[in-house]
Amino acid sequence: MAKPAKNAFVCQSCGAVASRWAGKCPGCGEWNTMVEEASGPPPPGTGLAKASSGRKLALETLDGVSAEAPRFSTGLAELDRVTGGGVVPGSALLIGGEPGIGKSTLLLQLAAAVANAGRRALYFSGEEAAAQVRLRAERLGLTAAPVALAAETNIANILATLGAEKRADLVVVDSIQTLWTDALDAAPGTVSQVRAATQSLIRFAKSHGAALLLVGHVTKDGQIAGPKLIEHMVDTVLYFEGDRGHPFRILRSVKNRFGATDEIGVFEMAGAGLREVQNPSELFLGDRDAASPGAAVFAGMEGTRPILVEIQALVAPSPLGTPRRAVVGWDASRLAMLLAVLEARCGVSFAQADVYLNVAGGLRIQEPAADLAAAAALLSSFSGVALAPDHVYFGEISLSGAVRAATHMTTRLKEAQKLGFRKAVLPAAGEIDAGAVTLATRRIEHLKALAEELAS
Ligand code: TYD
Ligand code: MG
Repeated sequence: MAKPAKNAFVCQSCGAVASRWAGKCPGCGEWNTMVEEASGPPPPGTGLAKASSGRKLALETLDGVSAEAPRFSTGLAELDRVTGGGVVPGSALLIGGEPGIGKSTLLLQLAAAVANAGRRALYFSGEEAAAQVRLRAERLGLTAAPVALAAETNIANILATLGAEKRADLVVVDSIQTLWTDALDAAPGTVSQVRAATQSLIRFAKSHGAALLLVGHVTKDGQIAGPKLIEHMVDTVLYFEGDRGHPFRILRSVKNRFGATDEIGVFEMAGAGLREVQNPSELFLGDRDAASPGAAVFAGMEGTRPILVEIQALVAPSPLGTPRRAVVGWDASRLAMLLAVLEARCGVSFAQADVYLNVAGGLRIQEPAADLAAAAALLSSFSGVALAPDHVYFGEISLSGAVRAATHMTTRLKEAQKLGFRKAVLPAAGEIDAGAVTLATRRIEHLKALAEELAS
């Protein structure tokens, strides 16, 4: 009989190991994250004395030639855009997102597109039975795609199946938290299991030149569940986000070893699956009520793509001693800063008012250039006068109230004129290509100019 393994307590958040249970992880300070796991074989690197003697490596210089990472198109243009031109064989991609956001739908559509293009695509579902996946395929109209499907959670079986394949171009595993190996005496979803499963799949992908796509669950605060650890192990990390009340879904890259991380992909969840949205601005401005006060159109940028979106504000008299401030789709501390600047630099006080700010369509804006549009929406709601419906706004506001230049000003203006806007309110500083811009521009230097016009 095997000797019972000595157990260790592993933090599910940072992966720290302790010999005793503790309420608070000594490594990262998180509470209630220590879980008992049987310790597996000692991690490589310990017991150096027993290790085989190393072999001398050939050292290289940095200016050697390496071929550009070969890629293949996924067949979904928005996904290609986010990954920087397609997926790279031999790489691992992790996609995170809240339950029900559409990860499985996206990956099934992707697998089908890749399979239809003549590549070998394998889909391992650990969460749903094969019949459920088939049902979804039916709904998406993809039953004819030659995707190889299996419902399995045992990593050994998955690796054996993959090993028997002559060719594997794309391997989808939904999700990494459901996989387990009987070599470890820990429950599926624990750090050791997830790490072991990810490692062995990555090893397979690297040695066989397959592109590996993993689904990762997210915790309630939006991190990929359990360890940050798997984010370090993979080459690319994408987040699939969006508001479940809205049909729009944004695919955002947070880590990419093969490309930039500032591009987003926009999809719309429809009755027959995810539809790619080539022109997001039209979608985000779709059902706009331009006549009511408190709405301003922001000419924003996501990566290299301009996106116009409506920012809505509501300023209402507050019965409370401490008025409410609520934000959806923007940073709450950014709103607090903007209100302070409006009060201190422009003499417009919101101290007696509840303030609500919302970015229409479920988009999350991270750009500081949204400040001016948010300020315009706030001032418009404050005064009860609607803004001109054919105006767009952008510009970052500093603590002094000065309006600072934004990036890609010409691109923003061109998108606005394409969609029929007539005038842009933008920072005084910063170059624009006058030849390419036909809409009227109003350049402002200080927020005061806007406040005097809108709040008087
Ligand atoms: P799913 O891909 O299962 O999400 P996840 O894997 O991220 O948990 O998709 C979940 C939601 O998407 C589901 O609630 C229904 C919706 N949906 C559609 O609206 N249209 C469709 O064609 C499909 C397949 C799903
Ligand atoms: Mg799913």
